[in-house]
Amino acid sequence: MEEDARDHFQAAREAAKRGRDPTCADETLALLLGHASRVRPAKVLEIGAGEGFTSIALAAFAGAEVTAVEKDAARAQAMRENLLRYPPSPGSVSLLEGDAGEILPRLNGAFDLIFLDGPKVQYRRYFADCKRLLKGGGTLVSDDVLLRGWVRGDPPKKRRMLVRHLREFLDLLEGDGDFQTQYFEYGEGVAVSVKRT
Ligand SMILES: C[S@@+](CC[C@H](N)C(=O)[O-])C[C@H]1O[C@@H](n2cnc3c(N)ncnc32)[C@H](O)[C@@H]1O
Repeated sequence: MEEDARDHFQAAREAAKRGRDPTCADETLALLLGHASRVRPAKVLEIGAGEGFTSIALAAFAGAEVTAVEKDAARAQAMRENLLRYPPSPGSVSLLEGDAGEILPRLNGAFDLIFLDGPKVQYRRYFADCKRLLKGGGTLVSDDVLLRGWVRGDPPKKRRMLVRHLREFLDLLEGDGDFQTQYFEYGEGVAVSVKRT
């Protein structure tokens, strides 16, 4: 990406951090890019791609081939526009527009890195497909899993259902002997889970 486009990209990311369903925290993006620069993942899957900032960064700055799933039509359109504005190499990002709950079971292929950042109440439902789609030795990065400490503590009443779903997801993750998980307190909490080879 040219320097000018890179500056615009950063500014657009800043704006996308302030919106509803924001783009991931800077530390989370740095974690993804740092991981990608070490491991050089050939194939990345992003679930809940929003306006495409993280997919574009992974393709443009880490040379990954990204498959991005996004359900919301307006966000998918914004992502297409961002792909034209901040083009990574041609064909490096494929957008699958639709519900991840329907798309994931039909997806094949072995991904080196999966960034799970879609609807939090569905993480536990997506877990089996994430495991199936992840290569041995691959990494699942799940965003927003600690929710201001509520998932490990005492959530406000209106957040209890969401917290219960996230706890069920973390129970699946931690109870699965094929994964080794580490947590980072970035943004709303990130789980980094490596699948055994
Ligand atoms: C936190 S935002 C994603 C931000 C993005 N990962 C980034 O870092 O820029 C969550 C996204 O998940 C999308 N989403 C919600 N439900 C979905 C579903 N069932 N399938 C696919 N995407 C969904 C939302 O429309 C929203 O864009």
